[in-house]
Amino acid sequence: MIRPKCFNLVVFIVVVAFSRYISSAAKKSPPPGLSKPDYCKKTFNIVVAPTADSFIFFTGTGVPQRGSAFSFGLGIFIPPNNKSIGNLYGQGTVIDVRSSDTPTPSAPMPPAQTSVISFVNFNVVFPVGQIASQGVWDDKLNATNSFPVTGGTGLYTGATGALDMLVIAPSTYLFAVKLTKASC
Ligand SMILES: *[C@@H]1O[C@H](CO)[C@@H](O)[C@H](O)[C@H]1NC(C)=O
Ligand SMILES: *[C@@H]1O[C@H](CO)[C@@H](O)[C@H](O)[C@H]1NC(C)=O
Repeated sequence: MIRPKCFNLVVFIVVVAFSRYISSAAKKSPPPGLSKPDYCKKTFNIVVAPTADSFIFFTGTGVPQRGSAFSFGLGIFIPPNNKSIGNLYGQGTVIDVRSSDTPTPSAPMPPAQTSVISFVNFNVVFPVGQIASQGVWDDKLNATNSFPVTGGTGLYTGATGALDMLVIAPSTYLFAVKLTKASC
């Protein structure tokens, strides 16, 4: 039979050991000899592109027009090998639909192209945590967008910084994640 005083000490030791275990697990340090994964760094690039599971649903007729609401999901890949690392999920409202046709006398008419400008909220969803963001998303080819990081969970708890995005192909985006501090 453990006497109460001794029992308190045992409980104290167990609690300290457990909280150390939890905080070391939360740090998710890489095994010795291996470099930290890209998602730990202060700045890293991700390619955001459609996968078999991607979607975009517009309300109403399904055709984007001013005021249309939509939800979307895309895959996230880490270059240069483009290893799949997560998904980007969001919702938004169309602000404007613009034609990017630029007929020139010397060239044949390019195929009709439209770009959509929206206000979106989205989360970068990694297994190790989420990065929350929002802002104006211009999907025109070669457009540059910069989104504020509004918060995070998991490794990205309390994250601040920016997500700089370049439209590199239709529905394909190169993001530079620029956090104010490394996550792990
Ligand atoms: C990774 O994705 C980017 C953007 O789509 C592409 O330019 C690059 O060639 C891809 N790399 C590989 C190894 O597939
Ligand atoms: C996008 O940028 C590339 C490379 O700079 C260029 O070749 C292409 O014409 C641009 N496309 C548009 C639609 O601006």
